Amino acid sequence: MDSRETTKVIGVRRLKEAMAKPVSTRIFTVANQKGGVGKTTTTVNVAAAMAMGGLRVLVIDLDPQGNASTALGVPHRDTEGIYDVLMGNSPIASVIKKVAGFPALDCIPSNSSLANAEVELVSMVARELRLKEALEEISPNYDYVFIDCPPSLGLLTVNALAAAKELLIPIQTEYYALEGLSQLLETYGVVKKRLNPSLELSTIVLTMFDGRTRLSNDVADNVRQHFPNELIDIPIPRAVRVSEAPSYDQTVMTYDPVSPGAIAYMQVAREIAERGKPKLDANFDSNVVSINYKKEGETA
Ligand SMILES: Nc1ncnc2c1ncn2[C@@H]1O[C@H](COP(=O)(O)OP(=O)(O)O)[C@@H](O)[C@H]1O
Ligand SMILES: [Mg+2]
Repeated sequence: MDSRETTKVIGVRRLKEAMAKPVSTRIFTVANQKGGVGKTTTTVNVAAAMAMGGLRVLVIDLDPQGNASTALGVPHRDTEGIYDVLMGNSPIASVIKKVAGFPALDCIPSNSSLANAEVELVSMVARELRLKEALEEISPNYDYVFIDCPPSLGLLTVNALAAAKELLIPIQTEYYALEGLSQLLETYGVVKKRLNPSLELSTIVLTMFDGRTRLSNDVADNVRQHFPNELIDIPIPRAVRVSEAPSYDQTVMTYDPVSPGAIAYMQVAREIAERGKPKLDANFDSNVVSINYKKEGETA
């Protein structure tokens, strides 16, 4: 038996444990105005991992490039997508596509017209809230919604931040990692104050981590200091299989589920789900104590 097969068993077993369902739908915006930091990769792989863990998941591809749609194998060139919803031309339910091979993973694709949306939205009524209003119609059907943003802080990203409950920032562990983060945090602050007071920066994921380099570890330490509660302490390693998967219209979760990148994304997804699971009621403990009372004379 080759080593692949041995690890495969572990992979399958992990999936047998369902992931925790959240109390109510968790809507994440995955944003960072820097390109190439792993927004799309994190979006599609965490979403796929959660769907494998038994959760109902929706990915909204809000980047005109359509990389998330591609990675999920969803056609996005000549089809209707999120652009038509933002423009008020299509009901959101009509543009949802099923992702092949996953029982409960859906995607709302982008298309190239989305590139015009930044400009066309400017003159529209409630231009920052168009995604939020549309998403409200369907979000209760899902446990998790992930919105993949373009690499800018324009109206598309603002729409995503206004529609979400949580912000997930992927940070690439490289030299300029934290540069530009203040701009993103500023936009987050403005949206939180003016449009969406309940928005929380809840989650930071380190991507393309190389544990052998001092630099990767320094960046990780730095992020951990600034965001001890938000950081998911499982970094995503730089891994060839992760970057190959999109060219096969797949996530790494199906392309090579036992590769280090896939295993890391599975762990990150599980950690995100754990953080979102219902907390036990504070009164619950006292009931448990009374169950454990021993009768007099009884031995332990
Ligand atoms: N963990 C990783 N290991 C190797 N390559 C990666 C990893 N994460 C992302 N990549 C690659 O880096 C590039 C940028 O990632 P992407 O997710 O598209 O970034 P963004 O959406 O922020 O622009 C892509 O080519 C992707 O395949
Ligand atoms: Mg992207």
